[in-house]
Amino acid sequence: MNTINVKTSKPYEVRVGKGLLKNIAREISDIKKPGKCILISDDTVFSLYGEAVKTALGEAGYTVYETVFPHGEESKNMETVLSLLTACFEAGLTRSDFAIALGGGIVGDVCGFVSSIYLRGIDFIQIPTTLLAAIDSSVGGKTGVNTDYGKNLIGAFHQPVRVICDTDTFSTLPYEIYTAGICEALKYGVIRDKDLFYAIGNADIEDIVFRCVGIKADIVENDEFDHGERQLLNFGHTFGHSIEALSDFKISHGHAVGLGMIVITRACEKAGLCESGVCAEIEKALNAFEIDTNITYSAKELESYAMSDKKRKGNKITLVIPEKLGKCVLHTISTDDLEEFIGL
Ligand code: NAD
Ligand code: GLY
Repeated sequence: MNTINVKTSKPYEVRVGKGLLKNIAREISDIKKPGKCILISDDTVFSLYGEAVKTALGEAGYTVYETVFPHGEESKNMETVLSLLTACFEAGLTRSDFAIALGGGIVGDVCGFVSSIYLRGIDFIQIPTTLLAAIDSSVGGKTGVNTDYGKNLIGAFHQPVRVICDTDTFSTLPYEIYTAGICEALKYGVIRDKDLFYAIGNADIEDIVFRCVGIKADIVENDEFDHGERQLLNFGHTFGHSIEALSDFKISHGHAVGLGMIVITRACEKAGLCESGVCAEIEKALNAFEIDTNITYSAKELESYAMSDKKRKGNKITLVIPEKLGKCVLHTISTDDLEEFIGL
């Protein structure tokens, strides 16, 4: 097992290894003594791992309540939040009790948000079961839900008290969902670590998770509340979010980020802001995981969705641009120039 210490305002450990779920009580007992907790999951993940987690915690003396919602982005909304809050009240959770997010990024984001507002905040533990959640969403404390006005527009910063990533859970992931996580892993390679970029697909997945989380922890420690450096983590996201929405969410978040990395890198190469050949390397890496890199949306379509991006301030938008593999920087442009900049 590997441990990464995340030194945010409320520090915590991310533990990465095989077989951790079997010993889940041992993995949390130093921070949460037996008492009440609520296990929050989606139907798919609960059916795979829910009973095992409940049993292991129950045997160690925890009183475990559970609440399960339908999987998918359609559940990431305030209706689900209200139903989970009701479950917390029904369970009689107090401020010393805690929640557990067992699932992918959706479960983690929703459970984290509920934990941030229930009784003005209770502890929560992340147990990510997708590669994407393990390397990105479970670490850093961004929680929230979608609205009709856009994705993740209601939320809070609320750090987990521990993250337990059992890489054995990836064995049940459909390939498409696994490769959505690969896109985010490649993102870390482009923003910070060229060796990592080329290790993806070759190195052990535990090692990849450890290295990605290390980069995320480092960036989040420097800029927990997203005023500057943390925006680097949004490489590929500005147009990724556009692609996700334009596809009516048929293209997953991870794959959309993969395509978004191509859009921005291609534009930067054309504008002379990025070394040439980087876009081709990203495309090759995505294709190696059978990800279709054909982008069917126009610059106009990508631009119009990007205008609702949280990174837009007035008529300025901050883009994350790659200078070369392993180095990204922030670059602010006028929204009037965005369509031309994309230049598809
Ligand atoms: P997800 O949570 O929808 O999981 C994908 C699918 O895989 C779901 O159907 C789920 O039931 C299933 N699943 C999960 N684990 C499984 C397993 N081990 N075996 C079999 N099936 C499994 O999606 P995701 O890709 O994990 O996360 C995407 C979400 O994360 C988006 O809503 C995105 O906005 C959010 N996100 C948040 C942050 C953040 O910093 N908070 C960062 C990145 C992404
Ligand atoms: N996933 C982007 C962030 O955590 O800031």
